[in-house]
Amino acid sequence: MKVAVIGAGTMGHGIAQVSAMAGYDVWMYDLSQEILNSAMSRIRDSLNKFYAKGVVKDVEQVISRIRPTASLEEALSGSELMIEASPEILEVKVDIFRKAERLSERGSVLATNTSSLPITEIADSINEKGRVIGLHFFNPPQLMKLVEVIKSVYTTDETLNRSLDFVNRLSKKAVIVKKDVPGFVVNRLLARLMNASCQLLEKNYASMIEIDSAVKYKLGFPMGVFELADYSGVDVFYLVFKAMKDRGFRGDVCPTFEKMFTEKKFGVKTGEGFYSYPGKGIYKKPEIPKEAGTGFDPWLVAAPEVGEAFWLMKTDTASESDIDTASMLGLGYPKGIVQMGREFGLENVKDRIKKMAEITGKEEYSYLLQFLE
Ligand code: CAA
Repeated sequence: MKVAVIGAGTMGHGIAQVSAMAGYDVWMYDLSQEILNSAMSRIRDSLNKFYAKGVVKDVEQVISRIRPTASLEEALSGSELMIEASPEILEVKVDIFRKAERLSERGSVLATNTSSLPITEIADSINEKGRVIGLHFFNPPQLMKLVEVIKSVYTTDETLNRSLDFVNRLSKKAVIVKKDVPGFVVNRLLARLMNASCQLLEKNYASMIEIDSAVKYKLGFPMGVFELADYSGVDVFYLVFKAMKDRGFRGDVCPTFEKMFTEKKFGVKTGEGFYSYPGKGIYKKPEIPKEAGTGFDPWLVAAPEVGEAFWLMKTDTASESDIDTASMLGLGYPKGIVQMGREFGLENVKDRIKKMAEITGKEEYSYLLQFLE
């Protein structure tokens, strides 16, 4: 089966790789040969790591299933499933979807990996709207087991079922997001965690290292909040949170994110973010000592996430078990965020959200509280 992956950046190259690892023939498109070469070299590095662990038996065989191309037409022609992972600009995506509708196999799935644009709006740009669906992967796609599957108002059952089969075949777990809400599930949770952490930084209530250490060592999150922002890209999160806010999400984007975005301090990819790295695109884990977080209560920043999880449940956007699965497989949490909140005690969660309201004076916290009643 021919899979077309449109865009060979951080997400695109990873999606192409996992599709090829699952046995699909993949055409990977991007604008220039230079971008494609860099993507292929990242794929090779990742496959070599998997080979060393016995996850992949034959690196060359997987590589041979991926055809990099700078021709969009070639990538799309006759494709039986497309995943678009291009920049988050609606006009760019619309152009791709229009071409895909014309060139791909009739009735095949046209998926977008968008994290910030409504799936319905993308579907509106073509005639066969029922073929469009959101397949939202997580960074790094090679390791994160979750895919959010987002239906637009038009998505047909056939498109949904074929997409679920595809996700299963990648050995990933699909979580169905029942409503096309800004940020879907995981980015809504992250928006609460990251903006709360950033607000505390701005208020000089806690330092970056204190917060990162406490969420890692007291809550068991795999990365600190600012470490994750740098890892996936401060630019990515800024644009996602801004798009969410523009579309009605009740939560401000922390001004520090905007400042860093303007200054191009994107994190690992630019060599400088909240932490510093040895060079552009060179990842080295930041040093976050365990003892640094002793005096900080990480529930101040995790409680708003639990509040958001309750928003998702109360608005029937996702089920409790799907939210928990999403936070474990998309964010690497040791337990689901709702389960963690319940174990900590919902009264304690509310108490921390009230405290965030006091510290920041922000209305979004009193808004969240009503969903925990
Ligand atoms: N391919 C293959 N193997 C890889 C790899 C890759 N791309 N990247 C790392 N690895 C390997 C490493 O080599 C390492 O192997 P060893 O154990 O043999 O040394 C192993 O994976 C673990 O990696 P690390 O030691 O570097 O670090 P870790 O234990 O912290 O795990 C992680 C890395 C899985 C990324 C983990 O930190 C994690 O789960 N972090 C959270 C990531 C997250 O939240 N992602 C979602 C971001 S939001 C998003 O993507 C959505 C959006 O729309 C913005």
